[in-house]
Amino acid sequence: MQHSSTKPPLRVGVIGYGTVGRALVQILETMDWVNVTAIGVRNTPDYCPIGIRVFHNVSQLIRSSVVDVVVEVTNDSVASLEFLREAFQCGKPFVTANKKLVAESLLEIHAQRTEGHIVLYEAAVCASIPVLRSLATSWSTEQCTSVRGIVNGTTNVILERMSVYEQNYEQALKYAQEHGFAERDADADVSGQDAARKLSILCFHAFGTWLPSDTIPRVGIQGLTHDDIAFFAAREQSVKLIANATTTGRGLRASVLPTAVASSNAYSSTTGEQNFLELQWQYAAAQTLQGAGAGGIPTASAIIGDILATTRYEPYVVRNVLHNGQHANIHVLDEVITVYVRVRSEIGRNLHWDSIDTYEELGNWSRMTGTISVRELSEFCKDYSDTAVVRL
Ligand SMILES: NC(=O)c1ccc[n+]([C@@H]2O[C@H](COP(=O)([O-])OP(=O)(O)OC[C@H]3O[C@@H](n4cnc5c(N)ncnc54)[C@H](OP(=O)(O)O)[C@@H]3O)[C@@H](O)[C@H]2O)c1
Repeated sequence: MQHSSTKPPLRVGVIGYGTVGRALVQILETMDWVNVTAIGVRNTPDYCPIGIRVFHNVSQLIRSSVVDVVVEVTNDSVASLEFLREAFQCGKPFVTANKKLVAESLLEIHAQRTEGHIVLYEAAVCASIPVLRSLATSWSTEQCTSVRGIVNGTTNVILERMSVYEQNYEQALKYAQEHGFAERDADADVSGQDAARKLSILCFHAFGTWLPSDTIPRVGIQGLTHDDIAFFAAREQSVKLIANATTTGRGLRASVLPTAVASSNAYSSTTGEQNFLELQWQYAAAQTLQGAGAGGIPTASAIIGDILATTRYEPYVVRNVLHNGQHANIHVLDEVITVYVRVRSEIGRNLHWDSIDTYEELGNWSRMTGTISVRELSEFCKDYSDTAVVRL
């Protein structure tokens, strides 16, 4: 691929040389329109291709005359914000895969657009799936009414291990960590926080509304046991962590919840670290996207698309927003949902149900189904994360 036959190769500096950084450098080394000229690291890497300068001072990399585009693939959301601001100051395009950075800095990133800065972050949401670019272009004339999907590969791997291999939660988490699907500190993934961050970014692009991720009610998968999964398997259902945002006349309904889905549907057939997204449109009706939601090489693929887009100055067009930099800050509505809950009996009375349909004692635990406010459930599970919750 060439970005122009007459132009010299684009010079890229990559900050962070872990799973994604190494995969990115590996692929870019095979392309002739681009040169990786620098990597920014904390610790000296065991290997780095010949001809690439290694910077321990990332600020120097960003300011270096051998770098045209800055790519940020660290797992450090504090330092990465400094890197982003430094790239702004230098007027250099910035590409990142860091969802925490993006979810926390969306307003700042898009405010900078008015200054002509370009920041692209396709890989931050569902890795290889080109959902942000598609929202900005292919469907730009349509009103999006709902975004729903599996946006976290780690929890998908864990739930699959619990279901298919009948592992308990701890064994499945260990498997995911040992096979590179989960970080050593997997809390952001298993608690639904990572999915909430991605949902926040998706809401910004799909609806043009700013929904801070910590305002999205969420329940993680930490409380689920193999017995809970088996309970649903017996009903020909599987359990998936689903992020969901739907517009209503009064605001948005948004949540991240373990959810029961029919064993035969597209959610259930989203296996391993794959992601799946279902978008509802005013005219186009339902559209789905499925693909690798994690992994160095697939994530690098999305980053490379963004690197190329910087050369054409193709920022994302965000619908309904950026009227003089202003964004609609929309209200997350509470919602009464039907759920399965297994909770320690001694604390179960602290849950305020709207109605209880079934109740069963299982030793020290109570298993119930009924209707309850999603906000109430989310707050309860922050205190009692060993509670199993599955939306029905
Ligand atoms: N892996 C995926 O499938 C995937 C998918 C989509 C998005 N992402 C995002 O992509 C980013 C990178 O993920 P990853 O899986 O490659 O993580 P990783 O394997 O943990 O690598 C992160 C790298 O960043 C380096 N780093 C951290 N802080 C740094 C700093 N201040 N200056 C320079 N280097 C620094 C680390 O260096 P040390 O080794 O010295 O600590 C490490 O080499 C993350 O933001 C992640 O959320 C990952």
